[in-house]
Amino acid sequence: MPTDIDFPGFDGYLGTRASLMLDTVFLAMFVVILIMGWSIYQVRYRRRYALHKRTQLTLATVLLIAVVAFEIEMRVYGWEDRAAGELGGSASSTVWFALYVHLVFAITSAVLWPVVIYRALRRFPKPPAPGEHSRSHNFWARLAALDMLLTAITGWVFYVLAFL
Ligand code: HEM
Repeated sequence: MPTDIDFPGFDGYLGTRASLMLDTVFLAMFVVILIMGWSIYQVRYRRRYALHKRTQLTLATVLLIAVVAFEIEMRVYGWEDRAAGELGGSASSTVWFALYVHLVFAITSAVLWPVVIYRALRRFPKPPAPGEHSRSHNFWARLAALDMLLTAITGWVFYVLAFL
């Protein structure tokens, strides 16, 4: 039990005040960033295009499921009581600022990823290989990868500020 306060929703398992899905997404983002890095390494240095495609599609699917579950939990039970450490409390302005910074990256990632994937699926040959779409994909997909990394980092900062 992270605290003896009976917050709404399910308690997490990392020993902080955070909820079940907050803990799960906090940990899942480490895995996502590691796998994304590995997938980019595979395409860049080993030219394993099909492996890169499969990995990115799997990552995007897993992320989508996690984010939907996470959003439902946030909408139903909220997070602010937990951040404040008391029922009916409000989060500090630092925590709100950290959340807004995080949301900038999270929202742009949620737009960029589907666009990058849709265009890659439409424009790369099948099976996937370098071609006319390469220049554009290399630019936008790198931006999408950086955006996801910043989403993870700012999410971890928010978690630490709000729930430790
Ligand atoms: C959001 C999802 C994706 C991300 C973040 C991503 C990321 C990247 C990055 C960063 C590179 C450049 C590697 C370098 O620096 O040389 C790259 C290359 C490539 N990606 Fe993706 N990718 C994604 C989805 C896909 C999908 C769905 C496909 C296939 C349909 C694909 C096919 C390729 C190919 C063929 C290349 C090599 C391009 C070339 O070197 O000419 N990618 N990807």
